[in-house]
Amino acid sequence: MKLLFVASEAYPLVKTGGLGDVAYSLPVALHKAEVDVRLLLPGYRDLLRKLRSVRILGWLELQGAGQIHTVRMLESQHPDYPFPLWIVDCPALFDRPGNPYLQPNGYDWADNVERYTVFARAAAELARDALQLDWTPDVVHAHDWQTGLVPAFLDMLPQRPQRIFTIHNLAYGGHFSQADFTSLHLPSYWWSAEGAEFYGGFSMLKAGIVYSDAVTTVSPTYAREICTPAFGYGMDGLLQSRSYKLRGILNGIDNDIWNPATDAYLPAHYSVEQVQPGKSLNKAALLRRFGVQDPDSHLPFPLLGMVSRLVEQKGVDLVINAIPDLLATTDARFALIGAGHGYFEQRLRDLAAQHPNRVFVFIGYDEQFAHLLEAGADMFLMPSRFEPCGLNQMYSLRYGTPPIVLHTGGLADTVTDGVDGFVLHEPITSALKGTILRAIDCFYQPALWQQLQTTGMKHAFGWDNSATEYLALYNKGATA
Ligand code: ADP
Ligand code: GLC
Repeated sequence: MKLLFVASEAYPLVKTGGLGDVAYSLPVALHKAEVDVRLLLPGYRDLLRKLRSVRILGWLELQGAGQIHTVRMLESQHPDYPFPLWIVDCPALFDRPGNPYLQPNGYDWADNVERYTVFARAAAELARDALQLDWTPDVVHAHDWQTGLVPAFLDMLPQRPQRIFTIHNLAYGGHFSQADFTSLHLPSYWWSAEGAEFYGGFSMLKAGIVYSDAVTTVSPTYAREICTPAFGYGMDGLLQSRSYKLRGILNGIDNDIWNPATDAYLPAHYSVEQVQPGKSLNKAALLRRFGVQDPDSHLPFPLLGMVSRLVEQKGVDLVINAIPDLLATTDARFALIGAGHGYFEQRLRDLAAQHPNRVFVFIGYDEQFAHLLEAGADMFLMPSRFEPCGLNQMYSLRYGTPPIVLHTGGLADTVTDGVDGFVLHEPITSALKGTILRAIDCFYQPALWQQLQTTGMKHAFGWDNSATEYLALYNKGATA
């Protein structure tokens, strides 16, 4: 089976969140299951710099907004990938530094609509083998709004591959204007309630939902939630009407990259057979990394960690509001890593400045630091208001760092209160504080705590089951 996997980010080349992890580990798992994969990515500046050698596959002339782009298609091998990467090299659209979606000032690139339309056109051209590479995919699997137009462009092919569209986060809809739609010379039949039109605007995510053969999202609970007004962002009715082709497949985690027994980012290794002293050594190293002079003096006290995009989704405000009281009433310390909204970044910096011995904050994106925090913290905070799947709670379970989560989406599907972590039921500060107090109470009962840690560490959250489910979905289309 030939699979063209289309994503706007993929670890370790470009990553802003869990999508990047999944766009790496899912195709790698599918490759192990003998699928013939090509991963298609945009040629961002930082991504191209990470590739050692590239081969030109050919050129495509692709319609943008008011101009035709001459796009160079590249193929590259990367040591972390067991199959070829295909890159859409269009400097006018992608030769920019940093975050793929945002300008340095934190705002979206004004031409994102054009950037990801051209990217999707390239995917559709490759899917019909326009470059005559003698490789025509049976399945095209696209992810999130940035690739929502891929199934739509494929709709126009007489002989089209099976089109799978995965929603990683419905909150990001790729919403643009009718003027954008017109400027991109998109097929007029898409402009309808049964197409890409959404409340008078243009939604790339909606196009992905409408024009795909199957829609998946990243956990069974989130698949149900998005069919309700509370989680549907206005698309709940549409999703309900497409429930025959919608399903939730829980993400896996990459057990090679996220393994405390071998993790190259950790100064000390440990496993479910022997958690200590490895875990404590990582705790000391984590505190040292935050600039703490005498880390050993902090070791007896619970260290609560968080690694997160600093956005409302993640409940960072709940954490920020809970911390002062918890500092007053417990011995807890807090270690927080994140980047995102300037407002949250500043509030975290302020907290750290007010409590330099108990609140440690790093603002920025740092893969190594994130691994060290998963290993070094005693508990992991993830009170997300909604969470399509969430990978960090699964990393935490694997690292013996019981997660504290809200009962929603993938968090509800992966964490069980009092068994491997702690679950709150309302996204309010008092509920979070109460749950953290329960967790701290448990932390001070070593036998109970070890039981909780080892239960979590034994979970099998690898990709095998999920990859098998995707494969069944791909095969279903092939035989339909
Ligand atoms: P989301 O995709 O919504 O951000 P996930 O839990 O699925 O949430 O995945 C987040 C991924 O991004 C994890 O691999 C996490 O470690 C990583 N991550 C998030 N913020 C940072 C950061 N500031 N530094 C390093 N890694 C981060
Ligand atoms: C999104 C979601 C997150 C999910 C990730 C990978 O970023 O917010 O819950 O784990 O995609 O699917």
